[in-house]
Amino acid sequence: MLLVEELSYAYRTQEGANCPALMNVSLQIQPGERVAIVGANGSGKSTLVKHLNGLIVPQKGKVMVDGYCTSDPQQRAQVRRTVGMVFQNPDNQIVAPTVEDDVAFGPENLGLPVDMIKQRVHTALQAVDLLGARLRPVHALSGGQKQRLAIAGALAMEPRYLILDEATSMVDPEGKKEILQVLRQLQARKIMALIQITHDMQEAAEAERIIVMGQQHVLSETTPERLFQQPQLLQQAGLTQPPVISLADRLRRRNVPVPETVQTMKELVDCLCQLRSVN
Ligand SMILES: Nc1ncnc2c1ncn2[C@@H]1O[C@H](COP(=O)(O)OP(=O)(O)OP(=O)(O)O)[C@@H](O)[C@H]1O
Ligand SMILES: [Mg+2]
Repeated sequence: MLLVEELSYAYRTQEGANCPALMNVSLQIQPGERVAIVGANGSGKSTLVKHLNGLIVPQKGKVMVDGYCTSDPQQRAQVRRTVGMVFQNPDNQIVAPTVEDDVAFGPENLGLPVDMIKQRVHTALQAVDLLGARLRPVHALSGGQKQRLAIAGALAMEPRYLILDEATSMVDPEGKKEILQVLRQLQARKIMALIQITHDMQEAAEAERIIVMGQQHVLSETTPERLFQQPQLLQQAGLTQPPVISLADRLRRRNVPVPETVQTMKELVDCLCQLRSVN
C-alpha cells in the first residue's frame, strides 16, 4: 500500500521565500486500485505524486511504499523500483535511439540477466501494443507512440504502482485513445495500481476512486459517480462535469430515464438504443 501521512511540503523560491505546495495531506492507495488525482492548476498534484516515488521527500509527515520509507536514502532504490512514473512530455523520458533499447534501459540498470531483460522488454512492449515497432528508431514514432514507449519503459521495471502525471495531455486524440486502452488493459490485469493525474474528467471517470485536490490539500476522496453529481464541489475544485454526465443530466431533465450509473458515451448510447427499442 502507498501510505501518505500528514505530508507537508513547501518549495523554496530563489529569493528564499517558502511557497507551500502541500499541507497535512494524508491518504492511502491500495495495490491494484485505479485512482485519478484531479484539481486546479497549482493545487499540488504533481508535488504529491513526486513524493510517492521519492523524487521529493517530505519536509513534514511521511510517505511509505509497501513498508519502505521514502525519506530513508537506503530504502529509496526499492521505492523507485516499486513506483513507476510517466510524465507529460514523452521526449523527456526517452533515453535510447531505438524502441527496444529504450525499454531495456531500466532493466539493464538493475543488472538483470540478458534473458530476463529480453523477456521484460517483450512483455512491456506487448502491453502497450508496440511489439511491431520494437526495432524502429524512437524519432520515427508519433507522440502517442512515444508516450506508450515511456509507459513500456516504466512497465519493464515491473512496478507495483504506476503513476501517470498528465500523460495524455500532449498527445493527439487518437494517441490518447490508444493510451487509455492500454491503461484499461493494465487495470483489468490488476497487477499494479494505476494513479493518474488528469484535467480530463472523462478520463478521470474511468478510475475507481478520485482524489480531488484543493489548494495544498485533499478536498475530497470519492467515486467518479459521486463527484460528478456534486456541482458545488466541482466548482470549488475548479473542475467541470464530463460532457457525457451533463448530457445525461439534460436528458433526465427532459424525462428520458437515463440511469445515474451511466458514465461513458458508450453506456449512454447503449441506454438510448435500449430505450428506443422498448418504445
Ligand atoms: N519547482 C518549483 N519551485 C517553486 N514552486 C513550485 C515548483 N513546482 C511547483 N511549485 C508551486 O507549488 C504549487 C503546487 O504545484 P504543482 O506543480 O504540484 O501543482 P499541480 O497541481 O501539479 O499543477 P498543474 O495542474 O499545473 O500541473 C504551485 O503553487 C506551484 O507554483
Ligand atoms: Mg502538475
